Formats: sequence, structure tokens, C-alpha cells
Amino acid sequence: MPIQIIVGAQWGDEGKGRIVDWFAARADLVARYNGGDNAGHTVTVGQKTFKLHVVPSGIIHPAPVAVMGNGMVVNPATLLSEMETLRKMGIDVSPRRMRLSHAAHLITPAHRALDAAQERARGKGQIGTTGRGIGPAYTDKSSRSGLRLQDMLDPNTFADKIETHVADVNHTLQALYGAAPLDPKEVASQYCDYARVLAPYIGDVSRLLAQALADGKTLLAEGAQGTLLDLDHGTYPFVTSSTSTAPGALVGLGLGIQPVERVIGVTKSFQTRVGSGPFPTEVFGDTAERLRGTGSNPWDEFGTTTGRPRRVGWLDGVLLRYSVRINGLSELVLTKLDVLSGLPVIRVCTAYRDSADTHADLPLGPADLSPFTPVYEDLSGWDQDLSQARTAGDLPEAAREFLRKVEEIAGVPVKMVSVGPEREQTVVL
Ligand code: GDP
Ligand code: IMO
Ligand code: MG
Repeated sequence: MPIQIIVGAQWGDEGKGRIVDWFAARADLVARYNGGDNAGHTVTVGQKTFKLHVVPSGIIHPAPVAVMGNGMVVNPATLLSEMETLRKMGIDVSPRRMRLSHAAHLITPAHRALDAAQERARGKGQIGTTGRGIGPAYTDKSSRSGLRLQDMLDPNTFADKIETHVADVNHTLQALYGAAPLDPKEVASQYCDYARVLAPYIGDVSRLLAQALADGKTLLAEGAQGTLLDLDHGTYPFVTSSTSTAPGALVGLGLGIQPVERVIGVTKSFQTRVGSGPFPTEVFGDTAERLRGTGSNPWDEFGTTTGRPRRVGWLDGVLLRYSVRINGLSELVLTKLDVLSGLPVIRVCTAYRDSADTHADLPLGPADLSPFTPVYEDLSGWDQDLSQARTAGDLPEAAREFLRKVEEIAGVPVKMVSVGPEREQTVVL
């Protein structure tokens, strides 16, 4: 009953989607366990590029069943439009291929309006959320006033529940934020339409997964966001509102504590972040433009969900080591190694320094990184284009040296690297 978990080791956008796609070729089920349409996972297969926000990336392969777990918050409008896009691209999104947890929570337009209003009110302290209503939906879940997909299954009560929810949020929007209210009846009618379409997909996925595992099937759990955006373990308060770390896979899919075969951390060969918050190894100017790209390539560092330019910097080994510990990573996959080609020097942060000391690890987690400046080790770059590399032997010695350094810092092996966005552009080590 093998479970493999794929988790972002940084601030999201590590390339999880394309790595999930690679592993999904050998999985029976692929399940998202956290977040909602704040995620944007890109999978490139030949001429086709898929940008997935809600549906697990495993859907691109013909076989695996795509499961959305109870740890998620689901915007049915985004989900249905994504299903439509996938259908047009020739992918089966019937209930045979896709299952939704009855215990996942709903995102409504009221949550989105609240997300926007709260961000405006934060002013300079903005988190830089994706504006998808994620925080408000999880807040309702925690305060036990949320709406679950299960509620969609009872047409007699669902409209009332939505109307009450929208009316409640309207009070807050108007009284606290001076924002425009929404029409409760209009939202309710829209959500009843969604419910009719989604009802056949909703069920107890925990039971489905347990049975599949008992039958010896392979489950791939797909994390959204990344370790440093985890509500508990990330750079709080500049985080998302879910458990994005690997242990969240069990809670977010309704699986008991059980052996997990592999916990695969995906990290870029450098560091990126979209939104506000600390970023000790951030760079600006020419080096930043070099790492980010200018937008001329589809893989340049502009957000998949919001199109915002990502902040970029050198690989942060202190945060990577932290990520190995928090997730219990068994291994790493390193993406975008090709992007480093042509840089004369590649810097890696190996420790932090404050006024008193040098720290190999974080004294108090990553929430407050302001006392620290990074200590770098400089490695030689390489000029070769790596996009055609398919075996370790195709990588120049300087690139192999970089990988050895990452392994030394992280304390776990780098099992695979990617050298371009295409499915085939991978090197298994
Ligand atoms: P995710 O959220 O972790 O799934 O990552 P995103 O899809 O948001 O962002 C990763 C971006 O990098 C996408 O545009 C991918 O197509 C691209 N990408 C992934 N791996 C590689 C790689 O090895 N090389 C290059 N050049 N691009 C990559
Ligand atoms: P994937 O799955 C990168 C960031 C937002 C913001 C913070 C909170 O594609 O890696 P939220 O809307 O979740 O309340 O925003 O989290 N964020 C992401 N950054 N990749 C993501 O997902 C993200 N999802 C949320 O930019 O800083
Ligand atoms: Mg992304």
C-alpha cells in the first residue's frame, strides 16, 4: 500500500505539477490534500500546456483517479471551468476519473470579496494573497461556520445555507470594510446550479483511498503551495491558511497514520516567492532579471495563478534543511537546473549570521528572518545548455558539484533534476 507524497520545499511554484505528472505515470490515484485555486500547477506535454488550479495534476495521464481531499477548499466555479478546459483538451473528467471529498469546504464569492477587503485594510502589511478567498474559507472552517461539499447534496437546505452565509458576510463587508454587499439569492441560485453538476462527484474519498490502499494500489499525494507557506511552519503571517507540509497529506485525505513510502520535496535550483514576506537570499537588478527571465519564455517567473512577477534569489540552504526536517523528506527533486546555465557564479546560502552568531539552523523557525543575513558559498557556474540532458553523464562537472552541495546541505539525496518544463526534460540520478 505505497503512499508517496510530493511537497513543495520552498514558497510554492517549485514545479510540483510537472513532477507529480512524472510520478503519476506509475500511480493509481493522485490526490490533492490542501489549498484551493490559489495553486497553479503547470504540466507541459509536447505542444500542450495545462495549468491546473484545483484538479490534481495526475489527471493528465489516462489512468489515475484524481481525488480532491477534505483538506481542500473548493471554488466550484473554478473547478467547473477547469473541468471544461480539460474536457476540451481530450481528458476524461467524468466521475469515474474524479472524486471530491464530501468534507472539503466551499469557497464562495463572499469569501473572495472578504479576501480583497481584508487585503485592502492591511495596507502596507498586505500578505499579497492570490485573492481567491482562501483565508476567509479556512477561517469559516475553523470557526465551524463553513459550508462543505456535502451540503450540496441536500437541495432542500443548500440554497438557505448559502443565502445565510452571504448575508452574514455582507454584514462584515459593509460594517467593517465599507465594501459592497453581494446578492444572497443570486449566489444561492448559482451555487444550486453548481451543486446539480457536482453532486455525482462528491463522496467519502477517505473510504475510497483506504480501500484502494488495502487493494495494493499506489497513491500519490500532491501538495499545493510549499513548506514556507504552511500555516504553522511557514513564514507566519506571510503564509497561506492550510497545512501544505507533508503530514497534511494524511489529515487532508482522511488517512490514518501509516507508512509513507517516499516524501519527495520539490525545490527549484534557486529561490522564488510571490507575495510579501521575508526572503533573506532575494536578489535584485541584473541577477534577478537573469533568474526571473523577462517573460519571453513560458517558464519565466511570473505567477501561474495571478501573473505577478515572482521575487527571486539564491537557493537558501538553511530553509531547505528546515524543510527536510518539517516534512520528513526522504529525497529531493531539483527543478529548473537549466536556468542556471551561463551564470559565472552560483551562490548557495549555507548559514545565517546575526549580530551574535552564525546559525546553521533556524533558532525560532522562519517567521522572523529579519535578524539574519545569509552566509554564501560560491560555486562555479557552467555554460552548457542543459535542456537536452537526460542522464547524469550529460551534466557538466560544475552542475554535478552543485547537486553534491545541495545534498550535503540538505542531508538527503537529490534523486532527480529537471532541465526544462517538458515531461521528458528530466534526469533521474
Ligand atoms: P508548481 O506550482 O509547483 O506546480 O509550479 P508552477 O507551475 O507554478 O511553476 C513552475 C514553472 O516552471 C512552470 O512554468 C513550469 O513549466 C516551469 N518549469 C518546471 N520545471 C522546469 C524546469 O526544469 N526548467 C524550466 N525552464 N522550467 C520549468
Ligand atoms: P502553488 O501550489 C506560490 C502565496 C500568495 C501569498 C500567500 C497567501 O502553485 O505552489 P493565499 O491566496 O493562499 O491566501 O495567499 O501564499 N501563495 C502561493 N505562492 N505558489 C502557490 O501555489 C501559492 N498559493 C498561495 O502569493 O503570498
Ligand atoms: Mg504554482
